[in-house]
Amino acid sequence: MTFFWICLAVFLVFGLVVFRGSPYVPSQKKYIRQAFTDLYKITSKDVLIDIGSGDGVVLREASKLGARSIGYEINPLLVFISRFLSFKNKKITVHLADFWSAKIPDDTTIIYVFSVTRDIKNITRRLRKEVNRIGHSVYLLSFAGDFTDLKLVKKNQSYRLYLINKI
Ligand SMILES: C[S@@+](CC[C@H](N)C(=O)[O-])C[C@H]1O[C@@H](n2cnc3c(N)ncnc32)[C@H](O)[C@@H]1O
Repeated sequence: MTFFWICLAVFLVFGLVVFRGSPYVPSQKKYIRQAFTDLYKITSKDVLIDIGSGDGVVLREASKLGARSIGYEINPLLVFISRFLSFKNKKITVHLADFWSAKIPDDTTIIYVFSVTRDIKNITRRLRKEVNRIGHSVYLLSFAGDFTDLKLVKKNQSYRLYLINKI
């Protein structure tokens, strides 16, 4: 019986997320690395934000290249796993938070997003607002999703790199 309740809780935690954003599907390391070298060269000067950071794979890959990496994740189980996997890595912070109300740090240089098409317009609006608040342009690296209202800088088979300008 306990097993049933645990399974139900896990199912609900993962399932209910679809009302707030994209369900959990991790990005593949191979493609992240490709994007971080071909499209946007991550360096130790970067501050990367992952909105919906899942198990933290993107944060870990960015931190290997020297960047400070901050994730916002709504699923407590994934927050626990990503904190566990980046234990003692001072470059990584994972917040248990809903990105629709999260404030990105002022020194953010690049935002990573792996989202569903349904949310793209709202994410664009939200990020434009954040960019105006922090007062400088920020790059957006999107897995699969097309942000047609933003300025496309580069793309490869899996990713698109955009620039969100301060208005
Ligand atoms: C497609 S997965 C991407 C995970 C990770 N960024 C990656 O690329 O491996 C989307 C993640 O966003 C999280 N998520 C969905 N809605 C969210 C919200 N409103 N706030 C924070 N995280 C959210 C989900 O729990 C899920 O882990």
